[in-house]
Amino acid sequence: MILDKKYWQDRYVNDSTGWDLGHVSSPMKRIIDSIENKELSILIPGAGNAHEAQYLIEKGFTDITVLDIAREPLDELAHRISNDSSVKIVNEDFFNHEGFYDLILEQTFFCALDPSLREKYVVKANELLNDYGCLEGVLFDFKDNRETPPFSGSLDEYIDLFQEKFDILKLERCLFSESSRKNKELVIKIKKNGK
Ligand SMILES: C[S@@+](CC[C@H](N)C(=O)[O-])C[C@H]1O[C@@H](n2cnc3c(N)ncnc32)[C@H](O)[C@@H]1O
Repeated sequence: MILDKKYWQDRYVNDSTGWDLGHVSSPMKRIIDSIENKELSILIPGAGNAHEAQYLIEKGFTDITVLDIAREPLDELAHRISNDSSVKIVNEDFFNHEGFYDLILEQTFFCALDPSLREKYVVKANELLNDYGCLEGVLFDFKDNRETPPFSGSLDEYIDLFQEKFDILKLERCLFSESSRKNKELVIKIKKNGK
């Protein structure tokens, strides 16, 4: 299966978006609530309907970039937020994106990528962060051998993947997951280490 622009676009067109909670998730809400500096430049890759972007606007953040390879959810978002000037909407492949951010917010994007791209994700996320920038969010932690997304992983795998280029500040069971994701998520906070 090729997880390209067409695949994702079709999922939105066919309303096959089981991942979409319809609101900011409780882990993302908690992460956002803990950030004091509203001027941080924030990237949300593979954002889909980006409910967290709406929450960031409500909380007064001013520099939010929402990126997705699929056009459909971005058009919806532009409509929902009335082209709010604090949000830049980018319809692009994450791996082609150029820019520098203080924070990347991760939720169900990493798991949507073919697992063969995981190392590339780590390199790209690292490149997109300013010195000492952080990636925060949630990663799935359940066991199965799925051939379609979401592709899971484990705490050990994530440590192996991220530890070279990032300092791992937090990687632990998420205690405030949405009920459908309870005991299936890890909360992650990692800081670019400059290596
Ligand atoms: C499982 S959905 C998650 C959407 C959103 N993060 C959420 O929690 O509702 C994965 C998203 O990643 C996007 N995506 C997949 N591959 C991508 C890529 N290479 N670059 C940018 N976006 C991508 C898809 O279009 C889709 O919106």
